Amino acid sequence: MGITNSGSGTRIDEIADGIYRISTPVPPPAIPGGFTFNQFLVVDEQPLLFHTGPRQMFPLVREAMASVMSPARLRWVAYSHWEPDESGALNEWLEAAPLATAVQGTVGVLVCATDQAIRPPRALGDGEALSLGEKQVKWIDTPHLPHGWDCGFMFESRTRTLLAGDLFTHGGHHVAPVVESDILGPSEATRKMMDYYSHTKDAVTLMEKLARCEPTTLACMHGSSWRGDGAKLLRELARSLDA
Ligand SMILES: [Fe+2]
Ligand SMILES: [Fe+2]
Repeated sequence: MGITNSGSGTRIDEIADGIYRISTPVPPPAIPGGFTFNQFLVVDEQPLLFHTGPRQMFPLVREAMASVMSPARLRWVAYSHWEPDESGALNEWLEAAPLATAVQGTVGVLVCATDQAIRPPRALGDGEALSLGEKQVKWIDTPHLPHGWDCGFMFESRTRTLLAGDLFTHGGHHVAPVVESDILGPSEATRKMMDYYSHTKDAVTLMEKLARCEPTTLACMHGSSWRGDGAKLLRELARSLDA
C-alpha cells in the first residue's frame, strides 16, 4: 500500500473496508493545476474494478492492483460511462483476467460494450444488484449526469460507498486519498471552469436518486475520496446545479 510506482507516483490506498483507490497523479504542465485519475478495486470473492483507467496508464494500474491481489483474479470490470479514462483499458483488463466480464448499465452495454468488448458484457438494469460475495453493488442509471447517455454509478451497500465517478471532480495532483473536508467548493469551481456537466433537466431528480442511497464514502474519480454525510453533500450539489 502507498506508492507502487516511484516514477509516476501511482499509489494504492484502502478508503473503505476492502475498497482500494488506485491513483495516478498528472502534474502540470500536462494538465494545468495538476490532476488525478483514480480507479477503485472492490476486493471480495468476485473482485470488481470500477473504471479501467486510460490505456496508457494500464501498466501502472495493473502494477498497483498486483500489490493487493493478482489482477488475474478480477471478475468484473465496471465503469460509469464510455470515455477513455473510465473505460479505455477495458480490453487490456479482459485480457489480463480471463474470467473477467465487463458490466455496465443497459444503455451502455447496448450502445458501446457489446460492440467494443472482446467478450460478451453483462448489463445491469436500474437498481439491479450484483453480489460480489460479502459485498454487493447496485447499478444506478443517471443518463447525462454528469455526462454520457450511458452514465450511471455503483453503490456498495456493506461499506455504504458510492462509486461516484466524475460527480465531484476536483484538481490537484498531490491530494490525500480520503478527506472529510470540503470537496464541493473545489469541484464546483472545476465544473464552472470546464463545463463538463451536461445540461440535463433531470439533474436534480437523478441526484436525489443517488442521495437516497445515503452513502458515507464517496469514491471520486478525480481528486480525493470523501467521508461524511453523502446524502447531504449530493443534495448540496443538486441545489448548486439548479441555481
Ligand atoms: Fe467522464
Ligand atoms: Fe473521469
